[in-house]
Amino acid sequence: MRIRWFKLLSLMVGLAVSAMFYGHYYTSLVTSNRSLHPGTGPHSIFKGSNDSQHTIRTDHERKSDKKTAMTLMKSIADLKLHADSVCHTSLRLRVQNDFYFRNLFNFDIPVLMWDSYITEDTRKNLSQRPVPYGWKDLPLEDVTSTLQLLNDSANQKLFDWRPPKGCVRCAVVGNGGILNGSRKGKEIDDHHYVFRLNGAVIKGFEEDVGTKTSFYGFTVNTMKNSLIAYYEYGFTETPKGQGLRYIFIPSDLRDYVMLRSSILGVPVPSGTDKEDKPSEYYGPEATAKKFKLLHPDFLLYTMESFLKSDILKTEYANLYMPSTGGLMLLTALHSCDQVDAYGFITSHYSQFSDHYFERTKKPLEFYANHDMMLEMHLWSKLHKKGIMTLYQR
Ligand SMILES: *[C@@H]1O[C@H](CO)[C@@H](O)[C@H](O)[C@H]1NC(C)=O
Ligand SMILES: *[C@@H]1O[C@H](CO)[C@@H](O)[C@H](O)[C@H]1NC(C)=O
Ligand SMILES: *[C@@H]1O[C@H](CO)[C@@H](O)[C@H](O)[C@H]1NC(C)=O
Ligand SMILES: *[C@@H]1O[C@H](CO)[C@@H](O)[C@H](O)[C@H]1NC(C)=O
Ligand SMILES: *[C@@H]1O[C@H](CO)[C@@H](O)[C@H](O)[C@H]1NC(C)=O
Repeated sequence: MRIRWFKLLSLMVGLAVSAMFYGHYYTSLVTSNRSLHPGTGPHSIFKGSNDSQHTIRTDHERKSDKKTAMTLMKSIADLKLHADSVCHTSLRLRVQNDFYFRNLFNFDIPVLMWDSYITEDTRKNLSQRPVPYGWKDLPLEDVTSTLQLLNDSANQKLFDWRPPKGCVRCAVVGNGGILNGSRKGKEIDDHHYVFRLNGAVIKGFEEDVGTKTSFYGFTVNTMKNSLIAYYEYGFTETPKGQGLRYIFIPSDLRDYVMLRSSILGVPVPSGTDKEDKPSEYYGPEATAKKFKLLHPDFLLYTMESFLKSDILKTEYANLYMPSTGGLMLLTALHSCDQVDAYGFITSHYSQFSDHYFERTKKPLEFYANHDMMLEMHLWSKLHKKGIMTLYQR
């Protein structure tokens, strides 16, 4: 009789543990299409718990009450451990509770792309759309040979190291002039993960922008332009470091070719960046593990759901895409439990310089390929709805 009771309770505890583990994993870690990867998604974790559950149950059939009680205590200890790691205030919950944003967010969309996407279905789909939303007109060989190298489990998830307990807190740092004199550096560094992009100058601005960089995001075009345009302000090299990961935005063939050369550790063989040495950008020790590639479907989704600009109705339509900062912020919004944005455009932008590192005030420059006003309204709305915080003053 008692064994039965224990069996039932143990089963319930086991299920609760599985469910909570599932919940945490779902809310904070998985950023890509899980069904593609039986090895990494919450389903496999659920199955794992289910499998061990199965072992516990068969054990019970043979072993004493005492042993059963110990198993149960262990299960309860596990349960407590996992309870501590659950995020109760996850961004996803806040989105689900928001009448407007719950119709825009799709957390099932894959954020990243890696070798498992070399399939006929994906090829058919993406060959119909030009960059950055697809592979149309790109030599398939260049795309495929790049994807083949993204075969490490680290390529499949944004947070492939030290996953923190509880809510995953991310800071995304744009380069806006609003950060000049902000003294937000310590607060930024206090996040689990810090995203930076393009001309992210740190030296001399530590008090305002912090020093930690977990992710550096760019297109090869924006990265190289930043090195040229902001060299005089101290952006003399791209951020580097052991714990730093690079997020490639595939906006052109250049990005695929540079990424492939970076992983192989060879000079770029052809194209716009011919003979560039990737180690100068990403360090000599760069392996596949250091690189993430945004999925073209994710880029399409961010544009269609959040940033469908009127520019698309003009002659500049095929130049238009969300800004690098916008894409990093949306990546964080689809991956973290808490997102705080710094250095992004606000309605008071005219009071600040274009970038925080300029020495004399320069007005914000608008380019035809981005819609900064639309992005400004989006960040403001996400802030007002409590889905993220936007640093404003
Ligand atoms: C759980 O385990 C049972 C029996 O071992 C199995 O039939 C079932 O498919 C498993 N469920 C999942 C979700 O893995
Ligand atoms: C995920 O992959 C499955 C097939 O593996 C597909 O049916 C589904 O549409 C994909 N989901 C997304 C959001 O791409
Ligand atoms: C094809 O692209 C659409 C977006 O247009 C996406 O929703 C869908 O999941 C993709 N299908 C495959 C098989 O990749
Ligand atoms: C990835 O592919 C490379 C080259 O094909 C191979 O050497 C390496 O062992 C693979 N890594 C994994 C984790 O499968
Ligand atoms: C940055 O702030 C300082 C003082 O807070 C000010 O003197 C300087 O002009 C600002 N720089 C720009 C480019 O606005």
